[in-house]
Amino acid sequence: MRYNKAVISSPATLANFGPGFDSFGLCLDSPRDTVTIQLRQPGRREVKVSGWSGIPTDPEKNTASYAAMRLADMCGCEEYGFSMTIKKGMKPGSGIGSSAASSVGGALAMATLMGVRDESLILEAAAMGEELIAGSRHFDNVAAALHGGFTVVSDARKRTILRIKPPSFQIVVVLPEISVETRKAREVLPKSVPLSDAVSNLSMAAGMVHSMMKRDARAVGEYLDDTLSVPYRKKLVPGFDEVRKSALDSGALGVSLGGSGPAVFAITLENASKIKQAMVRTFLESSGLESESFITVPGEGAIVEKVS
Ligand code: HSE
Repeated sequence: MRYNKAVISSPATLANFGPGFDSFGLCLDSPRDTVTIQLRQPGRREVKVSGWSGIPTDPEKNTASYAAMRLADMCGCEEYGFSMTIKKGMKPGSGIGSSAASSVGGALAMATLMGVRDESLILEAAAMGEELIAGSRHFDNVAAALHGGFTVVSDARKRTILRIKPPSFQIVVVLPEISVETRKAREVLPKSVPLSDAVSNLSMAAGMVHSMMKRDARAVGEYLDDTLSVPYRKKLVPGFDEVRKSALDSGALGVSLGGSGPAVFAITLENASKIKQAMVRTFLESSGLESESFITVPGEGAIVEKVS
């Protein structure tokens, strides 16, 4: 190992981002997890978590330590011990990439200690951490959390990730007081979809990538729709249609589900507070759900805050 201690800040993300199921991801400026790794005697591994309860502290069950260990395995390093402290800045099961933030934090923390810079290895290890929780190795959240900005998994088999700098806009995120496990939200999806839905999504996804590249926030909002997952998953988020309408009526450019939900997000160039209030109020009025909410902007990916 090259260093003894590393501190990583790793961000929340919005996977799918409208029409990009398992492909698109947008990195958020906040909230972020902080993952600290400290080398210990070989064989001794411990995990501590603060911020949210219910997160496993068994190193083989915790997504951050699991990703860190897989990174070390892939680099052929077997004799190591560590203590890891994870300060959770986001609620698990809320649709803003909590497990991906921790996985990327863990993988990057171990890579930093080892002096490993190969981003494809870090991504692979982080996706393994994601798989531990979600039951599938999807790369959309981890790619955005690692690289920042807007990311496209353009070939999952080859792990090809496109990185695009998004235009400036504000993002209103509303988290109703329910939890949706990604594993369960994937089970509600059909095994096949009508050809017309596939064509519609393909067109919107192409429009989204073009709008991001042209840095046109209004067009990004227009393509923020989906026919592959949201129509099936919205039944897990009571009030979704009403909340979406309230955001659009208040001036949002576009609205969708964050990852597998229940987060609902809207993008806008103005009146973000008004949109946020309308969405929170509508969740309460339409389904009796209280919500947490925040406003953020597109952000940079995970960063090494300290190393020694
Ligand atoms: N693309 C994944 C899904 C993201 O929608 O199941 C999960 O956060």
